[in-house]
Amino acid sequence: MRLGVLASGSGSNLQAILDGCASGKIPAQVAVVVCNLPGARALERARAAGVPTVLLEHKQFSSRDEYDRELVAMLRRHGVELVCLAGFMRLLGPVLLSAFQNRILNIHPSLLPAFPGLHAVRQAVAAGVRVSGCTVHVVDEGTDTGPIVIQAAVPVLEGDNEETLAARILAQEHRCYPRAIALFAQGRVQIEDRRVRIAGADPDPARTVSSPELLD
Ligand code: GRF
Repeated sequence: MRLGVLASGSGSNLQAILDGCASGKIPAQVAVVVCNLPGARALERARAAGVPTVLLEHKQFSSRDEYDRELVAMLRRHGVELVCLAGFMRLLGPVLLSAFQNRILNIHPSLLPAFPGLHAVRQAVAAGVRVSGCTVHVVDEGTDTGPIVIQAAVPVLEGDNEETLAARILAQEHRCYPRAIALFAQGRVQIEDRRVRIAGADPDPARTVSSPELLD
């Protein structure tokens, strides 16, 4: 399966995806990395892995639709079958969503539906929750509202702040995202009525907290 990864920042999730493809844990290849900000570390990581990169700066387009049309055309040129948002700081419009319906994934640093949107870890710390985590979900028209594929729980420790909690959540993101992409690439994911069904997943409820059976 050919992946298109969209990133705006440090690209540590992109790195986890590149490593997963290189090791064979993800039966797929990153066909292109798209970035909307020049100088993002994600671009360096892609180049170091020998993956084609495209810089698509939104300020060069007059509307979201125009930007998305170019993005779709570019993803198609690279034969992309699954789009992976990895810290892509830009909302997607209907042009992209309809071109890749149920074929766009995102990683979010909270246990959705808690704390959607920006600063999810800050929101979790402020709310005083005892457990947070991360979620890989299919992207729909809402903000972090799409069908959930994998989640991992991360305990909030005494004295945690946004930075310390975010670092432990990020470590789990690097496990969850490659695993979720591998499930798609293996053709094991079905979406029915906004729920994700994974072929071959262990139905034992005692083992499903943090979806560990999907991770190991
Ligand atoms: C991660 O926290 C991810 O959950 C969020 O953006 C951040 C991206 O980090 N969507 P990185 O660029 O992959 O290091």
